[in-house]
Amino acid sequence: MRKLTYFVGTTIDGFIAAPNGAFDFFMPYVTEDFAPTLFTEYPETVVTPARAAVGIAEAPNKLFDTVLMGRGTYEPNVPAGFANPYAHLRQIVFSRTLTTSPDPAVEITAEDPLSTVRRLKQEDGLGIWLCGGAKLAGRLLPEIDELIIKQYPVVAGSGIPLFTTEFAPREFTLTGSRVFERGNLLLSYARTSPSPDARDARDASAAG
Ligand SMILES: NC(=O)c1ccc[n+]([C@@H]2O[C@H](COP(=O)([O-])OP(=O)(O)OC[C@H]3O[C@@H](n4cnc5c(N)ncnc54)[C@H](OP(=O)(O)O)[C@@H]3O)[C@@H](O)[C@H]2O)c1
Repeated sequence: MRKLTYFVGTTIDGFIAAPNGAFDFFMPYVTEDFAPTLFTEYPETVVTPARAAVGIAEAPNKLFDTVLMGRGTYEPNVPAGFANPYAHLRQIVFSRTLTTSPDPAVEITAEDPLSTVRRLKQEDGLGIWLCGGAKLAGRLLPEIDELIIKQYPVVAGSGIPLFTTEFAPREFTLTGSRVFERGNLLLSYARTSPSPDARDARDASAAG
């Protein structure tokens, strides 16, 4: 079964964007040692319009063939010409308010993201990239198998967090860590705690 991976950039204090949604304050940290790592190991996470400029226009997908975005992640970039940001991937945007897609390559769905992901996981193919943002990641947290965190050496103080959801501690196991010259970390984690469904089943059987 294929995995759902939340691959995302964050501050030390766990913010993926400023309160106004901007994340350009991460750019100074995409340094000469960090950028090639991202382009080589995660080429499919580079937006299509930028791929030629960084020499990966024809790079095959390595880890993912599908990207999931919430409307809050996708829609603000449409007016700037990013209606088809990841043309090399199947793109699914979750929204209960958008009625038509700004680009035929992008699927808009009002379905519960958990149902969509559970169905996608049954299909063949590469992994599923959860691009963000916080609300979609919060909803999908029970189905996230892996986190790949680009942690930049910045404290933001406030902003959009990694997840917007209820308090429900969930354990992940650190599976990889690398430090880059400006202090960026590339961290990977695999989910270790059982899913809520599994927890419910275990609790019910212990009680019975
Ligand atoms: N640093 C990074 O790597 C990174 C990566 C991705 C995103 N971001 C940032 O994250 C911000 C967006 O995050 P966000 O949390 O505001 O928005 P979001 O999670 O991207 O989108 C939220 C929207 O998704 C739709 N949705 C559909 N079903 C949902 C469900 N069951 N639960 C929750 N949402 C559902 C809703 O759209 P409707 O209201 O239309 O129903 C909801 O308003 C942007 O500023 C973006 O720049 C940063």
